[in-house]
Amino acid sequence: GAGLLAACSDSPAPPLVDPSGSPVARAEAARGGTGRERPVTVTATADTVDLGGGTTARTWTFGALPGTPVRTTAGDTLVATLNNHLPDPTSLHWHGLALRNDMDGVPPVTMRPVAPGGSFTYRFVTDRPGTYWFHPHVGVQLDRGLYAPLIVEDPREPLGYDEEWVVVLDDWLDGVTGTPDQAFAELRKGMGGGGSGGHDMGGHSMPGNGNGNGNGSDNVKGGGAGSFMLMGATSALLGGDAGDVRHPHHLVNGRIAADPEVYRSAPGRRVRLRIVNAGADTAYRLALGGHRLTVTHTDGFPVRHEEVDALLVGMGERYDVLVTLQDGVFPLTALAEGKDAAGRALVRTGAGEAPAAAFRPAELNGRILAATDLRAAEEAGLPKRTPDRIHRIELTGGMAKYDWALNGRPFDMADPAARPFLVGGGERVRLEFVNRTDMWHPMHLHGHTFQVGDDGPRKDTVIVLPGRTVVCEFEADNPGQWMTHCHNAYHGEAGMMGLLAYR
Ligand code: C2O
Ligand code: CU
Repeated sequence: GAGLLAACSDSPAPPLVDPSGSPVARAEAARGGTGRERPVTVTATADTVDLGGGTTARTWTFGALPGTPVRTTAGDTLVATLNNHLPDPTSLHWHGLALRNDMDGVPPVTMRPVAPGGSFTYRFVTDRPGTYWFHPHVGVQLDRGLYAPLIVEDPREPLGYDEEWVVVLDDWLDGVTGTPDQAFAELRKGMGGGGSGGHDMGGHSMPGNGNGNGNGSDNVKGGGAGSFMLMGATSALLGGDAGDVRHPHHLVNGRIAADPEVYRSAPGRRVRLRIVNAGADTAYRLALGGHRLTVTHTDGFPVRHEEVDALLVGMGERYDVLVTLQDGVFPLTALAEGKDAAGRALVRTGAGEAPAAAFRPAELNGRILAATDLRAAEEAGLPKRTPDRIHRIELTGGMAKYDWALNGRPFDMADPAARPFLVGGGERVRLEFVNRTDMWHPMHLHGHTFQVGDDGPRKDTVIVLPGRTVVCEFEADNPGQWMTHCHNAYHGEAGMMGLLAYR
C-alpha cells in the first residue's frame, strides 16, 4: 500500500514510458507493473576482499564479494544507479531479464559505456519472478568479482519454505584478482599473430564431457568440462613473476573451501536455495552431503519438480532447489567439473565436526541433473507453434588457436551489427545451437527466454555438449538488439558471440 510505496521511494513514480513511443517503449509499457520503484545504488570499485582463511585479494567488486543481492517484487520498477569508481569504462547487464532493450547494458550496442567517474541510472520493470544476477558487459570484468544476485520475488509465492539462502559460485583461478585478464589479453595478442606468441599453454586440452547427453537420460557423467587453460596461461605468462601467482580457489559466496560460510539452521527446516554460477570459466557439480535436492526452477522459470543428488550448473545458469534439513553438519560442495577442486559452504543444524575441506559428499556421484533432463512446469511452457524462422548457429573454434566463434566468424564488438541474426517482431524463432567443438559451451540469449526442446525448461542459458545440438524456441516479443553468446567469458570475449536484431 501507500506505506510501502513511501518506504521505497520519496518521489511519486513518473510515467515510465511514453506508450506511443518507440517499439522498445511500447514493449515496456505492455509489461505494465505496479509503478512502485525500487531504488538501489551499485558502486563498482577497486577493492580488497577477504576470501577467508587469511586470503585477501585486490580486485574489483560492487563493494562486497558477491555483491549484495538486489531484491524486487515482480511488477516493480528497478531504478539502479551505477557509479563507476573503476579506472575502466563499465556497464551493468541484467542477466536473464526480458527487459527493455536500452537498459540491457551492452556497450556499444545498447548504451555508451559508463566512463570512469561517471554514473548511469537503469530503469526497467522487473515483471517476472525468479533468480537472476547482474554483471558488467565489458570484456571479462565480471571475472574479477563484479557480480551480484538479483532476486525478483513472487507476490503470490506458491512454494512453501522456512528460509531462503542465496548461493553464489565463482572460480578464482589465478588466486590473485580472480581473473587472468592481463594474461588473457597478452595470450590473445600472441595468438593473433598466427602463432607468433610462442606461449606455452601447458598442453591443457579440453576433452569435454564425452559421456554427457543432450536428450533426457538421467545422468551426466564425469569427464572433463568447464575450465581449461587459465592456470596454464597464467603460469606461462606470469612465469617471470611466479611469486605473485597463488593457488586457484573455488568460492562459495566469496569464501574459500578452508574457511567457508556456515549456514546455521535446525533439523526439519525447509530451505530454498537460489543458486547462481557466476564463474567465468567453470561449471560446478553441486551437492549437499546427506540430502537430496528438489529442483523447482532453472533460470527463474518453474520446472516439474525433480529429486536429485547433485546438479550441474553451467556458467550463467541458475537453479532453485528445496531441501529439508537433517540433523548435523553437512558440506554444500561445488566441485569444479573436470577437476578435483571444489568450493563449499557448511550447513550446521546440530552438533558435530565439520568434514575436512577435501571431503567429497557421495551425492556428487549420485543422480546428477542437467537442464536438458528437466521439463517445464505447465505454466512455463511455450504454446506449440510452427517456427517462422530458424537460425542454425554452429559453435566453432578450439583451444589451439583460441578462435572461438559462431559459424566460424569471430564477433567484432567494434562492428557489432555486421552480421546479425535477424528476427521479425511476433515471430516464433527456433535457434539450433550445433556444437562443432570438443568443449562444451553455456549459450546465453539476452532479452528473451527460450524453451529447450519440445517440453524442456524455459531458460536463458543452456549447456551445449560437444558434438551435440540443442534446439530451443522463443517468441520474438521484445524488440531491439540482443546478444547471444557463450557464457564462458573467455570464449565470448574471444568471439563466440553474435547479435540478434529485430528487422
Ligand atoms: Cu550474463 Cu551477455 O551475459
Ligand atoms: Cu564456450
